[in-house]
Amino acid sequence: MQGGLYLDAVLVAGAGKPEVDVVMDDLKAKYLGQIAQAGDEAALEAIRLAAVGKKGEVALQMRELGRMTPEERQAAGPALNALKDEINSALAAKKAALADAALDARLRDEWLDVTLPVRPRREGTIHPISQVTEEVTAIFGELGFAVAEGPRIDTDWYNFDALNIPGHHPARAEMDTFYMHRAEGDNRPPHVLRTHTSPVQIRTMEAQGAPLRIICPGGVYRADYDQTHTPMFHQVEGLAIDKDISMANLKWTLEEFFSAFFEVEGIKTRFRASHFPFTEPSAEVDIQCSWVDGQLRIGEGDGWMEVLGSGMVHPKVLAAGGIDPNEWQGFAFGMGIDRIAMLKYGIPDLRAFFDSDLRWLRHYGFASLDQPTLRGGLSR
Ligand code: PHE
Repeated sequence: MQGGLYLDAVLVAGAGKPEVDVVMDDLKAKYLGQIAQAGDEAALEAIRLAAVGKKGEVALQMRELGRMTPEERQAAGPALNALKDEINSALAAKKAALADAALDARLRDEWLDVTLPVRPRREGTIHPISQVTEEVTAIFGELGFAVAEGPRIDTDWYNFDALNIPGHHPARAEMDTFYMHRAEGDNRPPHVLRTHTSPVQIRTMEAQGAPLRIICPGGVYRADYDQTHTPMFHQVEGLAIDKDISMANLKWTLEEFFSAFFEVEGIKTRFRASHFPFTEPSAEVDIQCSWVDGQLRIGEGDGWMEVLGSGMVHPKVLAAGGIDPNEWQGFAFGMGIDRIAMLKYGIPDLRAFFDSDLRWLRHYGFASLDQPTLRGGLSR
């Protein structure tokens, strides 16, 4: 039956095929050809509009359907729809092919030879404070200390009260604390820029309980400014809590650390009795050094250089951190990172650390791809 209709139409057109079929073959050849040639998405979109858009040629042909006999329409309607589908899928396939080709081109163009050396002028350097922080972390890591962190803006409870420094205590004034501004009627606890890394002791005790072996490096703040003081500087806190920890463990740990850090065997330390509210007993620790022709030598001679504060964690501090002082004890210390960086690398003025002077950074900075390790060497 279909065959009969088709034959009819052929006879009407008198050209071997019905007129609408000839037009469709032409459209198909034209647009598939154009699609194959299209060089980008914009060209494809122009072809889409001209072919299968609302006012495109296929739509025009659709409009012709109304003028056909029912038999002609029955054959031509589905054929036009099929043509439309065919053009649409050719468009989609070409669009995907263009996207693939674009990706291939990008992958080719953005190819990079990672074995080439870094151009020296472009190479950034690692800041001495970052370098020394890495070195300290590597050494204490070997000794079984994990790294803990805390916020630089903390409540005065963590910064003072929990560390056995009550409100009226002179240590609060001595620390030249920066207080955060509080609006009137704001009854949140007062916040400060932490004046030391010791609040991280409390936070870590709370979070992890005992036993504990951590260091916490990071920035701290005090209102002070001269050649050896800047309003922001860096400390590293150490904390070890266990069943029977003593000052002897502290001394051994620190001497191991300083020998590794200054890369000098057997550095001696000297403990001087001192006072911190959060340790009992407390000691300030000096390392052995000498001055030869105006040059400082660490780990030799009979001079002493103060480098840190330390002691046995005060029972009240353990309790504030939620640890039972009848069961546990520990040592703690706090050391200036900037200070030991100055000593190790012969940097005379603390303020230069924070000037962002490129010449200074190139001079004192470290190669960016070298990781400090105890085996591979801590520095260069
Ligand atoms: N927090 C003290 C300071 O900033 C250092 C310290 C830490 C002392 C831990 C003893 C124990 O000066």
